[in-house]
Amino acid sequence: MTKTEDKLMLRALSGEITTRPPFWLMRQAGRYLPEYRETRAEAGNFLDLCYNPKLAEEVTLQPLRRYGMDAAILFADILLIPHALGQPLAYREGEGPVLDPVRKREDLKKLSPEFIHTTLEPVYETVSRLSSSIPADCTLIGFAGAPWTVATYMVEGRGSKDYVNIKKWAYGDPEGFGLLMDMLVDSTISYLAKQVEAGAEVVQIFDTWAGVLPDDVFHKWVIEPTKRIVEGLRHQFPELPVIGFPKGVGGNIIDFVEETGVTAVSLDTGTPLDWAARELQSRLPVQGNLDPILLVSGGAAMETRIHKILDTLGKGPFIFNLGHGIIPQTPPEHVAELSRIIRHRAT
Ligand code: CP3
Repeated sequence: MTKTEDKLMLRALSGEITTRPPFWLMRQAGRYLPEYRETRAEAGNFLDLCYNPKLAEEVTLQPLRRYGMDAAILFADILLIPHALGQPLAYREGEGPVLDPVRKREDLKKLSPEFIHTTLEPVYETVSRLSSSIPADCTLIGFAGAPWTVATYMVEGRGSKDYVNIKKWAYGDPEGFGLLMDMLVDSTISYLAKQVEAGAEVVQIFDTWAGVLPDDVFHKWVIEPTKRIVEGLRHQFPELPVIGFPKGVGGNIIDFVEETGVTAVSLDTGTPLDWAARELQSRLPVQGNLDPILLVSGGAAMETRIHKILDTLGKGPFIFNLGHGIIPQTPPEHVAELSRIIRHRAT
């Protein structure tokens, strides 16, 4: 058998309707698992964990051992690119990531795109280890943040509610801001290409904050950069499946799937299922979109919604996932229940 034939995830990405959909969960490795918290403590802090190939491999494998997902996602973070560009970064307990902000053209002088791979080398080693340690029917996913979302953290210096600093720069000096976006596009292409060379079979591009832009600038700062990344990767790897995740973008998702060239699109929790089946799945495979909070509450509400998603999207090429990442309060037994429901289901 060829690789694609034994891997449900690759089959769904090639447009096949599989007997049961493959499943994996965004943030499947993380604080809801006691064994993750243990390994993280052993590593020291979160960044040390990301740059430790042996321990990053271990935490990637932890959810697979418990639940047998059909895909493993490299353990890393979207903010490793800014860090590798030379922007100071720390993850603070209860506060999330904190960076020294870049807010104007002159600040770009502090970033060094030519040296990123020196810092990122351990990540490629993690991918390479995983490519021999994951189960034979499991697909290895590499990832990066999309330039817009990564830039929000670089410019705001932390998570934001109103995106006022980045929008002020992007609206007021689109050329200067464009230089940062160009740097991120180029870095992301070479970062993902190195992951593919090391053994990643699919890549996902996370654009968590794509939904805060009006449609004209959505084209400029979300669609265009994503399209350039997809083209840059396909130039080197013509068959590479790329999953886009433009979160919270409403009807703009149509232009996103038509124009970026992604292989599949990941749907957030708010995307209506019937609409997605009709308007999106007719064009490409889709992934999603269980509310991660149903995984916290569990029980009948979770079960009913899982079946509803499978009934609606399972008729086309489909990968079961959440609409956003697992949160730390999630009881591990609810993930086990989800896994059981999906495995016992034939569409
Ligand atoms: O999905 C996986 O299991 C793979 C690993 C992964 C992480 N982050 C690990 C992580 C992936 C794919 C990400 C993506 C990521 N990181 C995104 C895009 C997807 C999304 O969730 O919106 C974003 C915006 C980030 C940036 C980031 N990293 C934030 C805002 C935070 C703090 C919030 C939080 O959950 O703590 C992180 C830290 C982070 N990244 C953790 C993990 C497991 C928690 C760190 C810890 O152990 O304390």
